[in-house]
Amino acid sequence: MSTQIEIDKKLTKYLQEIGYRSDKIIDELVAETLALGNVARMQIAPEQGQFLEIIVKISQAKNCLEIGRFTGLSSLCIAKGLPENGKLVAIDNSDEFLLMAEKYWKMAEVDSKIESIIADGVEAMQSMIDRKHFFDFIFIDADKNNYPHYYELSLQLLTPNGIIIIDNMLWHGDVADDKKQDTQTNTIRELNLKIQKDDRINYSLLPLSDGLSFIQKK
Ligand SMILES: C[S@@+](CC[C@H](N)C(=O)[O-])C[C@H]1O[C@@H](n2cnc3c(N)ncnc32)[C@H](O)[C@@H]1O
Repeated sequence: MSTQIEIDKKLTKYLQEIGYRSDKIIDELVAETLALGNVARMQIAPEQGQFLEIIVKISQAKNCLEIGRFTGLSSLCIAKGLPENGKLVAIDNSDEFLLMAEKYWKMAEVDSKIESIIADGVEAMQSMIDRKHFFDFIFIDADKNNYPHYYELSLQLLTPNGIIIIDNMLWHGDVADDKKQDTQTNTIRELNLKIQKDDRINYSLLPLSDGLSFIQKK
């Protein structure tokens, strides 16, 4: 049986250099976000963005939802995977980095596919359920304490066979460290266990960057 290899610093560097094809606009967005300082840690890794784009493309998703826009890298990548008539609704409870995100969406010529909503994620998703606004792809990357709610609401918002991708599901490796018992780590740990037992879905937990849970609603 093949075993999971350990991803040390050298291999991480290799993955970042060889597992990602450099893109001028994405690289500029990453550099401008990095210059913001500590908040830059919130941005997804470009190799995760590349993965989001290809999943949206091969699943032929047309209606996508994202919770957690920040400076707009994940939105840009999801929108790149969409066809011309595809739509992404990007939710964030802050408008702080919206102008920056919009600048890069325009540069990448995906701005017409993205609708930005400034709202609390749980409230916005509940309102979409009430309005029967369904999606075939959902990316979750906002406040970790609400992850269990985002997961349940996503299952209500997804069409059959629809896909959910959740970021940070390995949480810097802390999920595997019993000594880490803070609320965020325990929330993610419990959600991983719930997903494992949940017969409403198929899933795969991928060690790409901080861990992506890849879920398909049955
Ligand atoms: C990890 S960042 C998202 C990174 C983004 N996906 C990217 O590619 O750069 C998390 C975002 O979730 C937003 N957020 C936090 N709590 C939220 C909530 N309750 N509802 C909606 N958005 C929230 C934050 O404002 C922040 O921009």
